[in-house]
Amino acid sequence: MEEKKKIPFWEESYKNDDISAFGANPNPEVKEFIDIFDKNGKVLEAGCGEAKNAFYLIENGFRNVSAFDLSDNAIKKVHKIAEKRKIHINAFVQDLCRYQWDNNFDLVISYGTLHFVKSEEWHKFIFDAKEHTNSGGFHVIQIFTDKVPASEDIKEFAVGLSKEGELLTLYQDWKIIDHKEFILEDEHAGVPKHYHAINKIVARKK
Ligand SMILES: C[S@@+](CC[C@H](N)C(=O)[O-])C[C@H]1O[C@@H](n2cnc3c(N)ncnc32)[C@H](O)[C@@H]1O
Repeated sequence: MEEKKKIPFWEESYKNDDISAFGANPNPEVKEFIDIFDKNGKVLEAGCGEAKNAFYLIENGFRNVSAFDLSDNAIKKVHKIAEKRKIHINAFVQDLCRYQWDNNFDLVISYGTLHFVKSEEWHKFIFDAKEHTNSGGFHVIQIFTDKVPASEDIKEFAVGLSKEGELLTLYQDWKIIDHKEFILEDEHAGVPKHYHAINKIVARKK
């Protein structure tokens, strides 16, 4: 008998207009470093979910912001939010493993997404993203590591957990603006208290 494919918990939240799957506020580094990012530059958010970072940047004067996610439900919701707030956003359904880098960017953001594809796939994504970033441009990346095992809610999908410190190695030729490694205690509907090991980096191309 064919096994039923498990659907990640965030898909239900993406279908519900009344809740934000991961909160409506931007991630802290996007807020903290907004003033050093170029408002006229090209921005790409990969695995954007409800695009809270992309919306925050647009609402703060960034003119050229693109965001993509594998989830059709997420992108439908992003378009609805944009329409409601009368905001233009270039949001589209896209698998990061198959992204075609036709343009260069000045800021590439990805939070909580890369570990959902195999290690070699997200390494390639970072390699290509670095190649297609203008000098002086930034990357803001957050990934889960294998310092603690993947929690029940994501273990089926987290096929590419990073090694601790791997991001630092991948950006050794860039200027490291910020770097954090920590364990987050998390709890949400239907999932008891659990932990995620997190590495984050804000890096600037020389
Ligand atoms: C934990 S959510 C984080 C969403 C958003 N970055 C945030 O912080 O609110 C992970 C997101 O990665 C997306 N995702 C998973 N695999 C992907 C892939 N191969 N390409 C693009 N997005 C992917 C999921 O659809 C989901 O929206």
